[in-house]
Amino acid sequence: MCVECHSGRDQQGNILDSQRYMGAAIPFTAPWSIDWATRAPRNKGLPGYTDADAQRLLTEGSISRRGVQLRAPMPRFRMTPQDAADVTAFLRSLR
Ligand code: HEC
Repeated sequence: MCVECHSGRDQQGNILDSQRYMGAAIPFTAPWSIDWATRAPRNKGLPGYTDADAQRLLTEGSISRRGVQLRAPMPRFRMTPQDAADVTAFLRSLR
């Protein structure tokens, strides 16, 4: 599901192939008052993230490489170590 938030879309809302995982504005906001991010950055290749950073991000509730909790709507992922390693390998494999 990473692709849903982290990809650019056309006017009809379809994900553009060239913009997959390249980052995008979040086109909606929260109905209640919480700290909400307006943009999902590029995650293709997980730039700036070591494998250890990526493991922490995906297994410990979406702690960024800088050690801070990422804002909604980034989900607070609690994957198994194997799932996190698989997602990391997938994102790094993208060209
Ligand atoms: C529901 C929308 C949504 C989904 C699904 C989502 N993200 Fe995010 N992601 C965000 C938003 C919004 C941010 C920015 C959070 C912030 O600025 O605090 C973010 C931030 C990130 C960052 C931080 C980059 C940095 O600058 O440190 C990474 C890495 C990331 N996401 C990876 C993923 C991965 C991997 C998946 C799938 C397993 C995923 N995201 C799924 C919305 C989403």
